[in-house]
Amino acid sequence: SVADLKGLKQGRLRLAVITTAKYFVPRLLGPFCHRYPGIDISLQVTNHEHILNRMSDNLDDLYVMSQLPEHLDIISRRIIENPLVVIAPANHPLANEKNISLQLMGNEPFIMREPGSGTRKAVQELFEEHKIPLKVQLDLGSNEAIKQAIAGGLGISILSRHTLALEGSSSQLTILDVEKFPIERYWYAAYPSGKQLSIVARTFLDYLMTEGKELAEKNAARTIPGVSQFSLGD
Ligand code: PGA
Repeated sequence: SVADLKGLKQGRLRLAVITTAKYFVPRLLGPFCHRYPGIDISLQVTNHEHILNRMSDNLDDLYVMSQLPEHLDIISRRIIENPLVVIAPANHPLANEKNISLQLMGNEPFIMREPGSGTRKAVQELFEEHKIPLKVQLDLGSNEAIKQAIAGGLGISILSRHTLALEGSSSQLTILDVEKFPIERYWYAAYPSGKQLSIVARTFLDYLMTEGKELAEKNAARTIPGVSQFSLGD
């Protein structure tokens, strides 16, 4: 376009994304940066609460999150599925059971994300709703550290299925088939509704909602064990 020729698509793109979006956003940046070499990107990866704080302080151009804020006026566009699943060590006694009762999760030592995490909030809401107390063994502020703790036999956890990307079929982790799971969620691209998007941010949002989304679906189908392309997307 004329704008490209005049070099208008240059400048800085400031993105802030929740922790699980690190399993897809960085992969989309390569093709985007090759197309627009004049754009440089800063990417913050943080939890739900910090995203909300950054949003109300207007620190970034665009956000990728799962639970949309209730008290901020925002514009949001749905990207792809980001379901929560129960993750256990591959040798867990319930590994081959079908439709495991939610109640049984109350007997398992549990590893929980830190306060402020959207994953933690979703998990707490589900178990409170069903009046099942969890035996929380440990709070950990990192999805990857939680996976290591599960593999090490500390307990089970509930995380985004995307955290299993690149685990492969020889993974030491497995997904338990528990009733009420997966918890259906999505990633959204979002920004405060009063905000005027820069040309650079608009360009990235358009890319994200078209090619970016397709690429993310393909990558998920390829890298997450047991996920077919047809169970993803909206
Ligand atoms: P969290 O969010 O890092 O705040 O838990 C992750 C998600 O909602 O997928």
